[in-house]
Amino acid sequence: MDNRPIGIFDSGVGGLTVTNHIIKRLSKENIVYFGDTARVPYGSKSKDTITKFAKQDIRFLLKHNVKAVVIACNTVSSNSISELKSEFDVPIFGVVKPGAEAAAEKTKNKNVGVIATAATIRSGAYEKEILKIDNSINVYSKACPLFVPLVEEGWLNEDITMLTAKKYISCLINKNIDTIVMGCTHYPLLKDCIKETVGCNVELVDPAYDTAVNLNNYLIKNNMLHDDSPKGENKFYVSDNTDTFNKICVQALGKSFNANIINIEEY
Ligand code: DGL
Repeated sequence: MDNRPIGIFDSGVGGLTVTNHIIKRLSKENIVYFGDTARVPYGSKSKDTITKFAKQDIRFLLKHNVKAVVIACNTVSSNSISELKSEFDVPIFGVVKPGAEAAAEKTKNKNVGVIATAATIRSGAYEKEILKIDNSINVYSKACPLFVPLVEEGWLNEDITMLTAKKYISCLINKNIDTIVMGCTHYPLLKDCIKETVGCNVELVDPAYDTAVNLNNYLIKNNMLHDDSPKGENKFYVSDNTDTFNKICVQALGKSFNANIINIEEY
């Protein structure tokens, strides 16, 4: 038994989609969430900057005595996870491997699309992980840099969001994909637009689901589950302006939470 909280971080509101799956699966756990809203997006930054930011985010979470860290961000998971794992003495969970495994399992015609930030696509992490599982799968990747600012703006179902989705994703539909990985934790908030664009014959993979399964299995195996409370306590922190964050909380988690602002540059 380990009653310390689970730490979760992302560049902004995207990680709330992962938090949602974790709360559903591990409802007794306390959670500390950090969204780096002052420095979002990470997806247009260099690997060095992404890693530097991620280290600060983890140092902040460690101040809260977390028992595990979930990188609820594909950009950090795909660029920095090995460096973070070797630097910090805490179990660290990423979203890319679980997402790749789910995609490889779901595809029938072996044509998989991956949509993600520019930094995630540039890293080639999804392609590498999927091909490790089955090298006969064709992986078609597309960076969708405008999706994150649209989500951070709260424009989840606007016409402009639909047009943007069409513009980015049509090249993948032409490749006859039957599965598409939402390789950025912000994207499940655009699920309706993405689904409408790809059509009902293409399966959407949200790596958050399998990430929560992995975390749950690890905590059980290592006797680290919280066993005391009927319901966990959730605390949210951001590095800037809480307005959109609080609004998206309702969409992602089904209820509102008030985030506290912290100075991430101190970490
Ligand atoms: N939500 C993050 C991801 O999964 C980062 C998006 C960004 O900050 O560009 O990649």
